[in-house]
Amino acid sequence: MKVRKAVVTAAGWGTRFLPATKAQPKEMLPLIDKPVIQYVIEEAVASGITQIIIVTALGKRAIEDHFDRSAELEQALRAKGEAKRLAEVQRLSNLADISYIRQKEQLGLGHAVLTAKYLVGDEPFALLLPDDVIVHTTPCLKQMLRAWERLGGSLVAVQKVRREEAPAYGIIRPRPLGGRLYGVEGLVEKPSPQEAPSNLGIVGRYILSPSIFAALEATPRGRGGELQLTDGLERLRPQEPVFAYEFLGKRHDTGTPLGLLKAAVALALAREDLGAELQEYLRGLKL
Ligand code: G1P
Repeated sequence: MKVRKAVVTAAGWGTRFLPATKAQPKEMLPLIDKPVIQYVIEEAVASGITQIIIVTALGKRAIEDHFDRSAELEQALRAKGEAKRLAEVQRLSNLADISYIRQKEQLGLGHAVLTAKYLVGDEPFALLLPDDVIVHTTPCLKQMLRAWERLGGSLVAVQKVRREEAPAYGIIRPRPLGGRLYGVEGLVEKPSPQEAPSNLGIVGRYILSPSIFAALEATPRGRGGELQLTDGLERLRPQEPVFAYEFLGKRHDTGTPLGLLKAAVALALAREDLGAELQEYLRGLKL
């Protein structure tokens, strides 16, 4: 079976970025010259996804406008002879078939995924969290889809994290399967460093079997009083296999101001039009 659909969650308050996020969605904060959410949408499309479901909430309308067509803007760019910019905004509004659904209460990632249940239907789907921007010549989701096509079940992306960072991640108990693959023998959401079952933390890319919906519906609220996807996967595990894949690439956590800043510097340094000048500027700062 082919994975056609991807869910992208964009319903959080973005409190870490206040006041920047008081009147604008955190997913629309720019990472250089693109809003953060555009990176994961482009990753999904580059991985072969054709239908995208964005879970939004109150105050997130700018996301819909961003991926919509703006005939007025196109006309203005055409009149000014800005062909390159015109092509870019047209490309953006034709990226994918996007639907939106609102999460009416902030009850956690598991709850956000459940919100998309009827739009996903009875088929495996990808889930991407826009905070995690992952850079590699082969998109992270594409790498995962290749592995998943052989394995089936559900698949989570993992990376090695320091023990003291365990409380920021879902952590898996892995059974090595060779190469970058693991069987998952347990998952814990945000354990203390002492309780962490390994150093493999879940990063915001998943391929989920539709059975996750029933599992989430049967899962009690967990950490922070929220319905955790990690707990839903732990409940699914005795019925269906869950695998983990240690992806290739550099992951940037744009979920905090410092993380977003670091990501912007790293990505800009790698860009032909910005890299050299930024490097010179940074060198000057150190003097
Ligand atoms: C969520 C998940 C966590 C995962 C993380 C990856 O946490 O609950 O299991 O490790 O995303 O970014 P959040 O970062 O939303 O608190």
